[in-house]
Order: sequence, then C-alpha cells, then structure tokens
Amino acid sequence: MSTQTQADAPRASAGAGPLLRLRGVTKRFGAVQALADVDLDVHAGEVVALVGDNGAGKSTLIKAISGVGPADEGTIEWNGHNVKIGAPGDATGLGIAVVYQDLALCDNLDVVANLHLGREARRGPFMDEIAMEREARSLLDSLAVRTLRSVRAEVGMLSGGQRQTVAIARAMTGDPKMVILDEPTAALGVAQTEQVLALVSRLRERGLGVILISHNLADVFQVADRIEVLRLGRNGGSYAARPDQRQAVVAAITGVSEDHPAVAPAPAADAPTTHDDGAPA
Ligand SMILES: Nc1ncnc2c1ncn2[C@@H]1O[C@H](COP(=O)(O)OP(=O)(O)O)[C@@H](O)[C@H]1O
Ligand SMILES: [Mg+2]
Repeated sequence: MSTQTQADAPRASAGAGPLLRLRGVTKRFGAVQALADVDLDVHAGEVVALVGDNGAGKSTLIKAISGVGPADEGTIEWNGHNVKIGAPGDATGLGIAVVYQDLALCDNLDVVANLHLGREARRGPFMDEIAMEREARSLLDSLAVRTLRSVRAEVGMLSGGQRQTVAIARAMTGDPKMVILDEPTAALGVAQTEQVLALVSRLRERGLGVILISHNLADVFQVADRIEVLRLGRNGGSYAARPDQRQAVVAAITGVSEDHPAVAPAPAADAPTTHDDGAPA
C-alpha cells in the first residue's frame, strides 16, 4: 500500500502523480489476446484520448477500468494506491464514471428525472420535484450548458448533442474524479460536436481526469492533451495532441510507418469534414 517510491502525496493535486495508473493490463477471451501488457496514465485535469482501429482493445480496456470486465493481469493504481476493480461498484466507489455510447437515458422522462434516476430527492413519501429541478439547473449551469431550453423537456425530444450533454451531466451527479466517454460525438453534427467538446474541456477545467474514446481525430486533436494509441491490444505510442503529431498518430493506428508505406491508406478514407490545418476555434 505505502511504498514511498513515488512523491509522497496521497491526494491528487496538480503536478502530482497520475490519478489513474495502469500497468501490464492483460485480458484474453479464449484464444483472443484482447489486451497485452497495456500501460496507461491519466492525470487529474487531463484529457487523454484513447484511439485505435476496430478491435484494438479500447472497449476492453475501458471495461477493465470500469469493472464491467476486470483484467486477467496487471495493476491499477488510483491516487497512488493499488486498487482492485472487480465490479462496476468498485469503479463508482473510487469516483470513476463512464458515459457509454448507447447513453442509457430514459426517453419518456424529462431532463430532471434523467439526472436523478435512482437517486430521487424525497420529501416524506413524495419526490421533491422542486429540489430536483433546482439541482438539475444548478448542475447544468455549473457545466455552462446553455443548449437545453427546458429541464422539463422529455429526453426523447432532444437532439443527439443535447442527449449527450444530459448523459455527461448525469455522470457528474455522483461527483466523480474521472469520466470516461465512449465515442461521445459519433452521432453528432458539427455544431453539436462543438458543444460536447466544450463540455469535455469544462470537465478538465474542473480538475477531472477524462478518457475520451474517439474515431474522430479532428475531435481528438481539438480537445485532448495527450493521445494514447492502442494497436492489436498493445500500446501503440503516446503522442502530444499537437497538429504536427497527426501523421505519427495515423501511422501508429494503422501500423504503417513512414519507412514502410507499402499499404498506406488512401487519403480519401479520412472523414470529409475534418481539416486539421486551420483547426476550428
Ligand atoms: N466478449 C468478448 N468475447 C470474445 N472476444 C472479444 C470480446 N470482447 C472483445 N473481444 C475481442 O477483443 C479484441 C478487442 O476488442 P475491443 O476491445 O472491442 O476493441 P475496440 O473497442 O478497440 O474496437 C477484438 O479482437 C475483439 O473481437
Ligand atoms: Mg469498442
């Protein structure tokens, strides 16, 4: 528990050791080696993008962190302490929240109800609607969410970007230290994507550690601090999220190095809407 080899600051503070530190994480599904000896550090106040081709092991790694699919081998440190994440409750208890791709919102309920699912405020035998609405507004205000006209709107009537916003806000209700976002902009248009990326920046400003899984390198370069590539279940390199690293990141994802451009992907394969020279403000 207390090997004092690292800086002896048990609480995460700016400049301290990572909030989350994975070492040697390994996971097999029968003959498939989904993760092999994977390392990952995430600091408080840092957005780490996790990228990689389909099957690279991103979801498997997230499941190991969230307790949905614990790793076979490897260690997890949280604030410098070894922890075991064997079930989702362990991750939640540490302060790790996951926003899954399918969102898991209740379409027939309004924003207030969705933000309070499972933790409804009560006044005697009744739910305290006024208190819940006040809390919902204050949470959304604190995240500077201005895209929701009414917290009484049914979630089923909202746009994709608004739904994603509600899902992220809901993850914040447990006051987590880390938020993991699985493809939060996958189904969104340009303006909605900007809103969600702005929200991700706000999570960082609030000092949370953020893991962002995304296929969209434009998003990743816009909002992340660091990019971690997974390739075939292994670490494929760690890159600063700077425009001059883009080629290297693409090469790491595809496994095509500039020395061996034999199977270089056609440029047209990139998403048509992403131009990284002149990054959107
Ligand atoms: N439940 C499972 N059973 C068997 N194989 C799995 C299972 N989950 C993932 N895999 C395999 O593990 C590898 C990594 O998958 P995954 O983590 O889903 O990749 P990614 O999210 O990066 O697309 C793939 O080869 C995938 O087929
Ligand atoms: Mg996946």
